[in-house]
Amino acid sequence: MRIIQITDTHLSRGKAHFADNWAPLARWIAGQRPDLVIHTGDITVDGAEVDDDMVYAAGLLRDLGVRWRAVPGNHDVGDAAHSRQPVNGERLARWHLHFGADRWVEDVDQNAGSWRIVGLDAMLLDSGLPEEAAQDAWLDLVMAQAAGRPIAWFLHKPLFLNSPEEADTGYWAVKPQPRARLMALVRRYRVSLVASGHLHKAHEVVSEGTRFVWAPASSFLVGDMQPAIPGEKRLGAVLYELDGPTIAAEIVDVPGLREHWLDNVIHEVYPRPSSSVGSR
Ligand SMILES: [Fe+2]
Ligand SMILES: [Fe+2]
Repeated sequence: MRIIQITDTHLSRGKAHFADNWAPLARWIAGQRPDLVIHTGDITVDGAEVDDDMVYAAGLLRDLGVRWRAVPGNHDVGDAAHSRQPVNGERLARWHLHFGADRWVEDVDQNAGSWRIVGLDAMLLDSGLPEEAAQDAWLDLVMAQAAGRPIAWFLHKPLFLNSPEEADTGYWAVKPQPRARLMALVRRYRVSLVASGHLHKAHEVVSEGTRFVWAPASSFLVGDMQPAIPGEKRLGAVLYELDGPTIAAEIVDVPGLREHWLDNVIHEVYPRPSSSVGSR
């Protein structure tokens, strides 16, 4: 069973700054013949605001000709407690319309066993929305009913940057309170893999037996606007091979991707009254 994780494609018809990286990515995916593609969010440049970004990006995903699933990023549905673009029912409804469920579970059966693959909506975390409570209850059930299957999670934001016990890191990772809840589940059910995007950096760390993989974006890198956090500034994707109870993860280069830097175009792509990191 081969799964490809792609993330942070930041696609838009109107703001096509990173659009040239889609064709090489799609070509590479086709050549890999994956059983499933998982997109971990920021599919669009600004789907939280611009409906056509959602239409356009969903069309490109459908054109892959491969089975895919996705979870939302902050640029697709907004962020928790964001001053201008809060995640809300309206934005979530738009996600559902174009990309399907924002959380999902899939049991993958193969010769030597079965995996439980879980997609989570990280943008709900700490939002206080009824959808957050619903996802919490749903996840409890999904975990309790895993029935001994190895488990892999996919979500947009990493649970932490340096350590599961760290303080609030602001924009870059899940907030401490929801993180503690999720880490308790990770530990209790010995989650094998937690895969995320959002940072536009590639990184892999094993903590208490759980592998945390940060998938590289395929769109752009972030220069000095990004604080010093672990990981490597590179573009690409992640290739997973499930074989019985084991999962191999490889962060890979994708031939033909051009190194765009957000810092050079942020005034066009994400023009804001104050171009702080918090607005990306
Ligand atoms: Fe992103
Ligand atoms: Fe993001």
